[in-house]
Amino acid sequence: MSMNRPVRRVLMLFVSATVAILLHACSGSDKESETSESSRAMTDDSLCITVARKVSSEFAKELKSTLVKAMKEGGAVNAINVCRTMAPEIAAKHTQAGVYSIKRVSDRNRNPDNLADSVELEIMARFADTTGEPQSYISRWVTAQDHGSFVYYAPIRTGQVCMKCHGSPETMEAEVRDILRTNYPEDRATGYQPGDLRGLLVVTIKWPEGKEWAEKLIAEQEK
Ligand code: HEC
Repeated sequence: MSMNRPVRRVLMLFVSATVAILLHACSGSDKESETSESSRAMTDDSLCITVARKVSSEFAKELKSTLVKAMKEGGAVNAINVCRTMAPEIAAKHTQAGVYSIKRVSDRNRNPDNLADSVELEIMARFADTTGEPQSYISRWVTAQDHGSFVYYAPIRTGQVCMKCHGSPETMEAEVRDILRTNYPEDRATGYQPGDLRGLLVVTIKWPEGKEWAEKLIAEQEK
């Protein structure tokens, strides 16, 4: 009798482990139907990447030229105001509700609306990791119950021109520092060095809703 107990215990352990594995497998496949990455046809994937790259580079170019122009016209103080009103406007211009959208996010955000979520933080960590091949973008497919989207992430890095408003508060123009403090009391976007990872450009294309728009954009480009 005394020999039986350990045997039974081992058996029970085995049974509970099997149940645990089965349960785990179930929850795993549940998750899979929510978020499956890179399981699409190559054509959709390359179409989305091409379009996202185009949209994000046009957005970045427009933002930067607006910023540089405002700095030339009235220095950093003027440019902050331009940034504050123009950045969301430019983002809105490069957005079509229900089809595609573009935004900037950061782990150390200035505007409270621009805080990176947990997935975006993970993507930022991948761009910050300099041990592997440097990546110019990361993309993923997100599949929900009846619709999906393609999400494209590109790193935003700081250059010298950014330092006036994102550099060390000690070396910042006093007036710039004051305006930032007044407008962004919870500002975390200072203390950067040139070349630092500042945030992400995120392009989201609804799928299949965005397909027609994407194909049209490519066709126009090829004309
Ligand atoms: C004249 C000051 C100024 C300069 C120069 C400037 N920024 Fe900003 N930046 C701002 C302001 C103001 C905001 C908040 C805009 C808003 O309210 O949407 C901002 C927001 C951002 C954001 C969005 C995330 C967040 O923290 O809210 C990113 C990313 C960013 N800046 C990157 C850059 C980069 C890269 C450069 C250099 C190419 C740069 N900025 C130069 C003032 C500046």
